[in-house]
Amino acid sequence: MSAAHGAAAQGGAAHGAAALFRELTGAEPAGLWSAPGRVNLIGEHTDYNDGFVLPFAIQHRTHVALGHRADRRLRVVSTFAPDAVEIAFDDLGALFPERRDDVEEWARYPLGVAWALLRATGAAPFAGVDLVFDADVPVGAGLSSSAAIEGATASALNDVWGLDLDGVALARAGRRAENDAVGAPTGIMDQMACMLGREDAAIFLDCRTLEAQVVDLGFAEAGLELLVMDTRVKHAHSTGGYGGRRVACERGAALTGVSALRDLGVADLDRARGLMDDVTFRRVRHVVTENQRVLDTVRMLHDEGPRAIGGLLRASHASMRDDFEISVPELDLAVATADRAGAIGARMTGGGFGGAAIALVDRELVPAVTAEVERAFAAAGHVAPLCFTVRPSRGAARD
Ligand code: GLA
Repeated sequence: MSAAHGAAAQGGAAHGAAALFRELTGAEPAGLWSAPGRVNLIGEHTDYNDGFVLPFAIQHRTHVALGHRADRRLRVVSTFAPDAVEIAFDDLGALFPERRDDVEEWARYPLGVAWALLRATGAAPFAGVDLVFDADVPVGAGLSSSAAIEGATASALNDVWGLDLDGVALARAGRRAENDAVGAPTGIMDQMACMLGREDAAIFLDCRTLEAQVVDLGFAEAGLELLVMDTRVKHAHSTGGYGGRRVACERGAALTGVSALRDLGVADLDRARGLMDDVTFRRVRHVVTENQRVLDTVRMLHDEGPRAIGGLLRASHASMRDDFEISVPELDLAVATADRAGAIGARMTGGGFGGAAIALVDRELVPAVTAEVERAFAAAGHVAPLCFTVRPSRGAARD
């Protein structure tokens, strides 16, 4: 992976993909596409409960250089993994999902997207392609490096195969790849943010209808920055806690007689408490209150501006720490320290069990908050965090 987090690195990743393409094939790529990572401002573990989320695409992007082939084969190569993976279209169906472990993990994302697109559109009359990737979306930081690979692949194949699918259909193909080709039981938030991202705005998404609204954030006008604090605690949603939380949510919905937790409101919680064990109830309470917090955040942003949402960010983190239990000490420390150092609000972002926290901070306080968080991590004996600011950016597209 090309190292830097800064805006300059974007050109670097595009250049890296094209350079590796030339090195491998001796030819110029037919085109370059790219797709962003994302930060979720609020609405965590609500997407697979048919609820609401408010993510935005960030300036860190994954780039892909594409070249045509004369045969019906796909080859994927990247600057961040040593070996190329090559497969005939006709063998993709036998690979996913049953034999996905035969392919190295990163390659399941682009190959899984190709597989999902071929399934969604019927037969495969397409010509083969070489896809060469480079990325500056930090991996394992909870910023959806995987959705960025999926989005870049989906966007490129949609264009060169003339599929004419819209952003929502491409996001669905990305989620399909993630669920079936990679084996991570995630929702659709990351792929939707990656496909639909806009400069200076977040995407307010109803995950039941997939209706998306662009919501102005107004951070820049208010003199605010969104600081990411990557704890560097790695996580993977194909194993462990993520799937367990999803199962608990499904149990909670079944016990309350609704098809998804989206159908419960805060006023239903008293009744729900009597229908289930304490742990399941706390999982349910997180999702129900988090959905309400997303709605409240959208309203606050509109009515009062971004300085008014600090309390909602803090409440969201507390709910994930205490009720959903997906935080880790490093995330709690980053959030508490940023709050103490003067952030408007802070919370962990993404699936949890590691990854990054975000803090909404006055521009001039960014160096001080960063220094405090670094100091607190050093004092606690944690690996040094990576702190950098992100800005809402455009979604997947041809470069
Ligand atoms: C991961 C998943 C998303 C979503 C978040 C938690 O990022 O990929 O679908 O569930 O976790 O909000």
